[in-house]
Amino acid sequence: MRNVKSALLALHEELGRLKLLGEDTVFVSDETLRSFKMYFQSSKSLQASKVPSPKVASSPVKKVVVKPVPQSPLPSIPKPEIFELPPGNKEEQWKWLRNRVLNCSVCKENVMPGKQLVFGLGSLNADLFFVGEAPSEEDALVGQPFVGDAGDLLTKILQAMGLEREQVYIGNVLNWKPDAGAGFGNRAPTKEELEFCGPYLKAQIDIVQPKLVVALGATAVNGILGMDKKRKLKDIRGQILEYNGYPLMITYHPAYVLRNGTKKTKRTIWEDLLVVMEKVQMPISDKQKRFFT
Ligand code: URA
Repeated sequence: MRNVKSALLALHEELGRLKLLGEDTVFVSDETLRSFKMYFQSSKSLQASKVPSPKVASSPVKKVVVKPVPQSPLPSIPKPEIFELPPGNKEEQWKWLRNRVLNCSVCKENVMPGKQLVFGLGSLNADLFFVGEAPSEEDALVGQPFVGDAGDLLTKILQAMGLEREQVYIGNVLNWKPDAGAGFGNRAPTKEELEFCGPYLKAQIDIVQPKLVVALGATAVNGILGMDKKRKLKDIRGQILEYNGYPLMITYHPAYVLRNGTKKTKRTIWEDLLVVMEKVQMPISDKQKRFFT
């Protein structure tokens, strides 16, 4: 029962997070609906089967107190550390930075047991730098970005653009998977977490010097442009903006497509990426232009 309660709390938090990101629709599988039905039916029948026990004058009355499942407090994160990249070529600077992140005491304190820090990966000469949010469960297990389901979809998206993963660079606005408190589930990074890891992402972008940065989803945008709960992704996606002198495209996160994989959503993301391809002068075939129409 306690696990079900924790799961419902995690679900409640995740729905709140999606609402903040401007999503107003969620898709629920038949299997999940069946599980909910079974849970609620069994808790109803438990209540119905409670026969009042005969009153015995001397028996002490036990008061049952239902306590909320304890939630871990959000981590306290210090201000970001100020540093400069050492002189050297791209590879030397990247190795120095990776080493700094993997040994950063704040980062290490926030890694959940059994999980790893995740640093960006890819070509240091990439034209395109993709920015995600934070490592998923699978990513944090292996210490690499985008290896889970969202990663598989990102690989397919890149292939549709005519690219292999090794040709782009992929980084995140946060280097650890945020602890949701219940031992499972997701939580959005806090402002302090994003501010702490921000310089690590910025330094990776400065090393790669891409022709364009692609921010995937609202959390990535919060990490790059600063947290703004009023900002709506649908209002800022699809146009070439600017970040620190680099052209910036904002589009939806692949995980959004996994949750809401309508043709319309796929086409919207694809149109954003066609703008990206045009901006960095990649060849675009007629077939590519018509994807998801
Ligand atoms: N994995 C990542 O590394 N980043 C994301 O945003 C999602 C999954």
